[in-house]
Amino acid sequence: MNWHKKIERNVVLLGALTLVTVSIGGIVEIVPTFTIETTVEEVEGVRPYSPLELAGRQVYIQEGCYNCHSQQIRTFRDEVERYGHYSLAAESMYDHPFQWGSKRTGPDLARVGGKFSNEWQIEHLIDPRALVPESIMPAYPHLAARQLNFDAEAHLRANVAVGVPYTDEMVANARADLRAQANPDADHEGLLERYPKVEIDAFTGRAEITQMDALVAYLQILGRMVDFAEYGTEDLIQ
Ligand code: HEC
Repeated sequence: MNWHKKIERNVVLLGALTLVTVSIGGIVEIVPTFTIETTVEEVEGVRPYSPLELAGRQVYIQEGCYNCHSQQIRTFRDEVERYGHYSLAAESMYDHPFQWGSKRTGPDLARVGGKFSNEWQIEHLIDPRALVPESIMPAYPHLAARQLNFDAEAHLRANVAVGVPYTDEMVANARADLRAQANPDADHEGLLERYPKVEIDAFTGRAEITQMDALVAYLQILGRMVDFAEYGTEDLIQ
């Protein structure tokens, strides 16, 4: 260990070698972010959020759901068996900021879309213990009473600025698409073409679109963009 003593007693040498070591770690962390286009493999089915889903994502962040729920299924047998196919990087490529989370007081929500009906989601958010008696999740009844205040066009534009490929057509139709998704009687042709698999429903059924409507629309798309039906989960477990 004599060589090590030499380093420890020479401040300049120690400083220089520390710098070299830290730089290697830094480069390993930073370089992939410059080549992000090639690092994140595109996956069929992943699309930008519809305006109503995007508004719901905003509500999800505003209410701090990420404090108790992650949105990232790891590549472990127990996770894949419980939640489904492990999360792919591409599935959150249009999330700004991503909602992977690091805390699971409640279950992971990366694939919660379609697991429950819209009615179940609304009732659960209004009073979790009405459906899951042992639940410790807070109740969010106010979301059903609060009108959604969301400038869809501005939000789409902001996402375009950070690289989300919303087309001019999507931006131009942002407000109409937001309304159409929460109105089962509207014309949905354009909406479905622009955002395949969107959940169309009256949700809470209020005359004005509520924050609850948006949040449920968002929850129902989570994990449903990519069609995993053709993959068995057996061969996924490493
Ligand atoms: C204090 C922690 C906490 C917060 C904050 C929280 N949850 Fe939960 N959540 C839980 C727990 C615990 C469960 C499991 C029991 C249950 O189903 O109620 C759960 C369950 C759920 C489920 C059912 C998941 C499944 O697969 O069974 C959904 C959906 C959900 N939460 C959505 C939300 C949303 C949306 C928000 C924000 C508005 C939120 N949660 C905020 C703790 C939390």
